[in-house]
Amino acid sequence: MKAISPIPFFDLRRQYRHLKNEIDEALQGVLQHGAFVRGPEVDLFADELCAYLQGEKVVPCGNGTDALQIALMTLDLKPGDEVIVPSFTYPATAEVVALLGLSPRFVDSDENTFCLSAERVAPYITKRTKAIIPVHLYGQPAPMEEILQLAEAYNLYVVEDNAQAMGATYTFSNGETQKTGTIGDIGCTSFFPSKNLGAYGDGGALTFGKNEELAQKAKKIANHGQKEKYLHECIGCNSRLDSLQAAVLRVKLRYLDKFNARRREIAALYDRALSSLEGAIQIPFRPSYSSHVFYQYTLRVYAGKRDALKAYLSEKGISTGIYYPRSVLQQSAYKVWRDQCVDVPISERLPKEILSLPMFPELEDQEVERVTTAIIDFFK
Ligand SMILES: Cc1ncc(COP(=O)(O)O)c(C=O)c1O
Repeated sequence: MKAISPIPFFDLRRQYRHLKNEIDEALQGVLQHGAFVRGPEVDLFADELCAYLQGEKVVPCGNGTDALQIALMTLDLKPGDEVIVPSFTYPATAEVVALLGLSPRFVDSDENTFCLSAERVAPYITKRTKAIIPVHLYGQPAPMEEILQLAEAYNLYVVEDNAQAMGATYTFSNGETQKTGTIGDIGCTSFFPSKNLGAYGDGGALTFGKNEELAQKAKKIANHGQKEKYLHECIGCNSRLDSLQAAVLRVKLRYLDKFNARRREIAALYDRALSSLEGAIQIPFRPSYSSHVFYQYTLRVYAGKRDALKAYLSEKGISTGIYYPRSVLQQSAYKVWRDQCVDVPISERLPKEILSLPMFPELEDQEVERVTTAIIDFFK
């Protein structure tokens, strides 16, 4: 009998096979000219990403965590200033706030989007609050229009954590659209290999929709505070996207919309097959204001059945993921804020209910069908 092949959670090798000629040529270009740091690919990629986002400026850096750190340094926040972050996110969002001696204020997620909402943030704004960091979790944009209105009313900066939502579009109530990452004062993204736009190692960028001055400052901070070589004007850090990663990203950027469209197609297949299980599970919510780019396709599994479903799928050779098994406040490193804190019931419930299904552009329809059939069988 022919063994059934396993279905990976994601598989970057399939994408490499598909793009091999272009990627190999791009990497060869860097190997030939030898400018591994600050090679021409870095500026070219920054310009191309800026054009794609229809933004003002892109400042590449070493990774998504650095992007967040540089963003907060660029805004000149001082120790003790409060920054509002979601409790349910990858810890990097809050980590950089703590690292800079600022005070993270953790806010619970919206039940549907799993993102911050203005309603949830508003009660936590104090005289010391300086910024809000909404995270577009799993590729679903946070409700930016209401967050911007709140920020304007209280004179707060908005730093978008766009690590999981590159390519998502936000539609304002007047019909205007904007790419996430260009809506707030600064956008921060990660090019970690599994991301919608992923490198072959670490990479990140700050993106700017309106403020060229902030962009110039961020560029300086990312380069040891140097305005020009050996002229250090402020304390900065060393955070660079290298030329090989930029070369890979230039190729992949050309396919980003196609890949995101395929992610949405896969999500629609999942939605259609799994909607009959409503009540036992919850499929991802789609607010009308945005296009989801499905970095993850994440179910909520009710009645304490998540772990059993995960194990059942694993027996069938289907890999799944839990993003994240703990909220940030449930991590021991963040205990001090947990003790001070706040009620975050949704952030505490989600880690027990969420299950992310295989999701990458090269996943085949028949594999999606195998996943959904197995889930339906589990609930029979
Ligand atoms: C929401 C979010 N923020 C920040 C980061 C940090 O990005 P990096 O791993 O490139 O430092 C990630 C990466 O996983 C993320 O998912």
